[in-house]
Amino acid sequence: MESVFRYLSELLDGGLVWVGIFGVNKPRDEAEAMKNDEEFIVTPWKVEGKVDYDKLIEKFGTSLIDDELLERIRKAAGELTHLLTRRIFFSHRDLDKVLDDWEAGKGFFLYTGRGPSGPMHIGHIIPFYFTKWLQDKFGVNVYIQLTDDEKFLEEEKGLTLEETRKWAYENALDIAAVGFDPDKTFIFQDTEYIRNMYPLALKVARKINFSWVRAVFGFNMQTNIGMSFYPAIQVVPSLFEKKRCLIPCAIDQDPYWRIQRDIAESLGFYKAAAIHSKFLPPLTGPVGKMSASQPESAIYLHEDEKSVRKKIWKAYSGGQPTLELHRKLGGNPEIDVAFQWLYYFFEPDDVKIKKIEEDYRSGKLLTGELKLILTEKVLKFLEEHQARREKAKEMLHVYKYDGKLAQAMWEKIHE
Ligand code: TYM
Repeated sequence: MESVFRYLSELLDGGLVWVGIFGVNKPRDEAEAMKNDEEFIVTPWKVEGKVDYDKLIEKFGTSLIDDELLERIRKAAGELTHLLTRRIFFSHRDLDKVLDDWEAGKGFFLYTGRGPSGPMHIGHIIPFYFTKWLQDKFGVNVYIQLTDDEKFLEEEKGLTLEETRKWAYENALDIAAVGFDPDKTFIFQDTEYIRNMYPLALKVARKINFSWVRAVFGFNMQTNIGMSFYPAIQVVPSLFEKKRCLIPCAIDQDPYWRIQRDIAESLGFYKAAAIHSKFLPPLTGPVGKMSASQPESAIYLHEDEKSVRKKIWKAYSGGQPTLELHRKLGGNPEIDVAFQWLYYFFEPDDVKIKKIEEDYRSGKLLTGELKLILTEKVLKFLEEHQARREKAKEMLHVYKYDGKLAQAMWEKIHE
């Protein structure tokens, strides 16, 4: 009986809403279910509301990075980065197993990526700096996927294939500027490398049915069919080596890894491990994520001084409305975007960040002063990044085609 209603509902609009009327009441997709329960949504395409990371971990079924695991990383890597000690990278899947493999001499590899739909902002580059830190410490291969296909298929973006390819080139320069090991890093763009990935993408795709991707990603009967195949393409690089793959990314990408982990072993590969970060909050306040449709919410890697100063000056603050009140009551660093940006990325020194926090909380440090501290840090970072990006123009062909790893990858057909 249920199957008849399901069939009818799919004919009508593709959701399970109609089935719900007859009592089965299954939510249409995970994203909607999340919104109903928690008043926030995190999917690979959108983040809405104020994310409760403890609840998200529960929902996604990932694990917190606890002190014991941190100590194991410290031992293996020789030191820790503030991105770990401050729990910016806060959640994981199978990171303990990656360390087991490492300690047993089996090694592992790193995989991350970027959807080239426009210029990259500071949030986008954080996982790449963290991936470089891991590569420096462990000396392992890094694979970086540029999904010019995904961003073309996402119709709401309204981009042509030529445009997403152009952005893949522009974004690759920002990624190359991070300074990965040229012989152990392969940057590839889906529409170029697809021939080498296609046999394995087919094997992955045959294991994923439509109702599964619909539930995970919230697709409906109007979603173009490219989108339902695309998850196979994002899974493939996690199978590039017969070793465990560790994926550093923000937690929005986790739905792909859930699918990967359900099918990898049946294809003779390891389940992917992941290490997830929180989102660098938008300048507009601690809700949602930085978005291209709201340029004032983000700072882009190419931005000039004037615009950086203006955006940070207008950023959401945890300060009091008047100087007098601020001196008396102090500011709230938890919701202050300038403080959060310093804490996440721009002030790695623990002693300095603690002092900034205390002074802000006590009212000694004013909102304007805090914003100026951030502004100078951001400007310095951007200046250095932009200089490295210029130099990276000569390096791009090494990462993409001529480096040791890149050459080996172009000779390989993944089966
Ligand atoms: P994309 O381009 O949306 O994001 C690139 C990377 O940045 C992370 N991210 C953030 N990190 C911190 N703060 C933020 N506000 C923020 N916004 C985004 C994302 O989680 C991601 O790590 N489909 C992917 C491309 C991709 C990929 C991968 C990403 C292909 N393979 C493997 C990670 C790992 C995408 O569109 O990412």
